[in-house]
Amino acid sequence: MNTNMKPKVTVIGSSSMDLVVTSSKRPGAGETVLGDSFKTVPGGKGANQAVAAARLGAEVFMIGRIGDDTYGEAILNNFKQNQVLVDYVEPVTDMESGTAHIILAEGDNSIIVVKAANNEVTPHYIDKAANVIRKSDIVLIQQEIPEETVEYVASICKEAGVPLLLNPAPARAISQAVIENATYITPNEHEAQMMFAGEKLQDSLRKYPNKLVVTEGKNGVRYYDGKEEVVVPAFVVEAVDTTGAGDTFNAAFAVALAEGKSMTDSISFANLAASISVTKFGAQGGMPTRQEVEAKLK
Ligand code: RIB
Repeated sequence: MNTNMKPKVTVIGSSSMDLVVTSSKRPGAGETVLGDSFKTVPGGKGANQAVAAARLGAEVFMIGRIGDDTYGEAILNNFKQNQVLVDYVEPVTDMESGTAHIILAEGDNSIIVVKAANNEVTPHYIDKAANVIRKSDIVLIQQEIPEETVEYVASICKEAGVPLLLNPAPARAISQAVIENATYITPNEHEAQMMFAGEKLQDSLRKYPNKLVVTEGKNGVRYYDGKEEVVVPAFVVEAVDTTGAGDTFNAAFAVALAEGKSMTDSISFANLAASISVTKFGAQGGMPTRQEVEAKLK
């Protein structure tokens, strides 16, 4: 990639509206508690990663679907405000936009996702954007869209020689073909356990050097470089809302890799961006601009 040009990042994934309740207590089954606040903010793992990559200076194409409702309009406007290219974000007729129902309580979040229009990010829909995918410096994908779409995109990227970063969230079983065709896979510890059930993490890491990158929250990020395990430390900050921290990490990692940074430098850049993202409310509320990250680096 020409270093004077913006890296071309394509994000394929979900776009949702996050319906966020804050409360001092998380209700148990059959229990009612009084909440403190309710807010509606843009979210969805795909959309979050697209917005984060654009704020970090990439040229970003989003490939996704929205419903033909007011949430869909708001999601689209949010993309435009963040300079994300929306040629391949089409509304689905007679369908709701994806929603995420989030409880922020006791210092952590619980989330129920209703995929709705995101289920229409099908292999057939992807074909419309195949040219954009092939011209990308890197493609980012997650798992709030159908499994066959992830498999299809992984095969297109492999065939075109375009690096694919798979963020395997939320957790589900993944085919061996996807594991082989992806260039980078970034599970958290729980997702890694789902992917490699019954296997020790250190063995999985050794099987996939410089590919499997496991995020371990405050303990940093772990991968195997072909000779040894490397742990890139996290930046510890006072967190207001950790929703979207993983998305910021993945977007920043992709941007840094597309700019030609090394694995370790890319992870460190991503750790810093993610640490800034948790200092404000909302999945996208704290996602930093490039200038904010550079200022912290100094
Ligand atoms: O990764 C955070 C995102 O997950 C939230 O924005 C919510 O939409 C859920 O899908």
